[in-house]
Amino acid sequence: MSEQLFSIGLGVGTQNAKGEWLEVYYAQPLLNPSAALAEAVGASVNYQGGNQAISLDKGQLGTLEAALTAAGEADQAAIVNALKTSSRPLVATILATDDNPASVPEGYLKLQLLSHRLVKPHGINLNGLFGALPNVAWTNKGAIDLDELPEAQLQARLNGELLSVDCVDKFPKMTNYVVPAGVRIAHTARVRLGAYIGEGTTIMHEGFVNFNAGTDGPGMIEGRISAGVFVGSGSDLGGGSSTMGTLSGGGNIVISVGKECLLGANAGIGIPLGDRCTVESGLYITAGTKVTMLDDQNNVVETAKARDLAGKSDLLFRRNSATGAVECLTNKTAIELNQELHANN
Ligand SMILES: CC(C)(COP(=O)(O)OP(=O)(O)OC[C@H]1O[C@@H](n2cnc3c(N)ncnc32)[C@H](O)[C@@H]1OP(=O)(O)O)[C@@H](O)C(=O)NCCC(=O)NCCS
Repeated sequence: MSEQLFSIGLGVGTQNAKGEWLEVYYAQPLLNPSAALAEAVGASVNYQGGNQAISLDKGQLGTLEAALTAAGEADQAAIVNALKTSSRPLVATILATDDNPASVPEGYLKLQLLSHRLVKPHGINLNGLFGALPNVAWTNKGAIDLDELPEAQLQARLNGELLSVDCVDKFPKMTNYVVPAGVRIAHTARVRLGAYIGEGTTIMHEGFVNFNAGTDGPGMIEGRISAGVFVGSGSDLGGGSSTMGTLSGGGNIVISVGKECLLGANAGIGIPLGDRCTVESGLYITAGTKVTMLDDQNNVVETAKARDLAGKSDLLFRRNSATGAVECLTNKTAIELNQELHANN
């Protein structure tokens, strides 16, 4: 096999009673695996090319482990050794190309590449992901097919137990798959698998991060990072602030936040911000918002639409408390993160 593969993941997951995948956990997903590793996995699981999720039976694991060891891939060999003890369904997911995710193992591999920080948001093709993933009940006993949930609930009660359904969603919480190094996440249910949380990021209880979105780190996140939104280093999303997503509701501008920006508490943006921008607490800037541009002496220079200011740096947006007009000034006091808050990540 000479072609460079896009990704490989050796996983253990959950299937419903019909043998359909509900989710897959990959201990160490790989991006652009070495030729030797690709050869070792491919030959051991009879990979025929393309993007495939190949169910593994235990009989194959000895061969796979030996091939990985011979290829000098001790970490992956150790994972296979651990899989040998599993009574759960196992899978080798091999992606030759970054095509649309076509199955649950493929979708979960891509989401885990993001959360393991191997690719950044927008760096991987997730088209059609919603169609590929089932809606699942995430419980204290793991993932359960929604059709099988009533029976599982009854069985739990009959055993004198409570089956706690923590969420019903296509995306589980990220931290049940990976906790990337150097982060604090106050409320783990608010970060979905497929989020990219950069080193030095603190996410407080009000913070939320969707899949294919996240932070470069360090940063303080007390607001919502919608799908597709990426926040640059040193930025602070204040309590309850909002970044507009593109998945629903008609917005189609991809939002991002540059470095050392401050979105004030309850502020929001429907345009991307450059570096060192501040949005006043409570002000929501949509793309069509008319903005009065002020000079250093607070004189009106011109009127712009917020979308014309997209991505520009060193701007301060505020709503004039006397006139109600949205104003834009040069931002002279860009923020610095409070180092003490991030020292223990
Ligand atoms: C927009 C913001 C950054 C302005 O703060 P600032 O740069 O420190 O400005 P100041 O409050 O010192 O005000 C400077 C001048 O602008 C005026 N000003 C400030 N905001 C104004 C507004 N919305 N309308 C009219 N004038 C305003 C002040 O009255 C002051 O006028 P002066 O020079 O005549 O005294 C601040 O109000 C803000 O919203 N910060 C966000 C904080 C936050 O939410 N953090 C996250 C916590 S979770």
